[in-house]
Amino acid sequence: MRVGLIGAALAAAVAAAPVAAQDVAKMTEESRAAAGGFAQKLGGELKQAISQGGPDGAIGVCRNIAPQIAGELSLRNGWQVTRVSLKTRNALLGIPDAWEQKVLAEFDARAAKGEDPAKIEFAEVVAEPAGQYFRYMKALPVQPLCLSCHGGPGDIAPAVRAKLASEYPHDRATGYSAGQIRGAITIKRPL
Ligand code: HEC
Repeated sequence: MRVGLIGAALAAAVAAAPVAAQDVAKMTEESRAAAGGFAQKLGGELKQAISQGGPDGAIGVCRNIAPQIAGELSLRNGWQVTRVSLKTRNALLGIPDAWEQKVLAEFDARAAKGEDPAKIEFAEVVAEPAGQYFRYMKALPVQPLCLSCHGGPGDIAPAVRAKLASEYPHDRATGYSAGQIRGAITIKRPL
């Protein structure tokens, strides 16, 4: 049974491999900068597209530019970067895994207790069967700008509603009001 014991000892060592606090702080800082840049760039593109072509013309920005920015960040850094939500519009990219669901629920609870949603974030080193990961999430609060595509029936123009219905028949991402948390930018980084 020696092999079994050594195997068990190795598994314990892998699971417990410590990550220094300063490394976590550095990775948190890097993730915060990447997520902040992502949100800012997307917001800028959205504002510009809405002012040029109205919200129905801007749907393509959220559909094409957001995954493009996320893809560039992923490739450049060797991380997995995407946007997730508890109520997705695009299930292909946006459904959170178990860890992300837990963090999103905590984000809602933190906002309900009065924390500023624009500053809500969470970072953790997580052990998974394939290894250790540094994981980071930054909340995306609903701003007035978002309501034209994620708000209630009174916020969404008929042309936008029609386009969303045809492009996203399983859309769950409406009915929000300003200040709620729409979802999060999530970053997963192998260690
Ligand atoms: C012009 C319409 C439009 C506006 C304005 C808009 N969105 Fe979206 N949003 C979309 C579309 C379309 C998708 C689906 C994108 C895709 O196919 O990946 C989406 C997807 C998302 C997702 C990914 C998760 C999911 O549900 O699929 C998040 C998070 C999100 N939007 C947040 C926001 C926030 C925050 C704002 C305001 C800053 C905003 N959106 C403004 C149209 C819009």
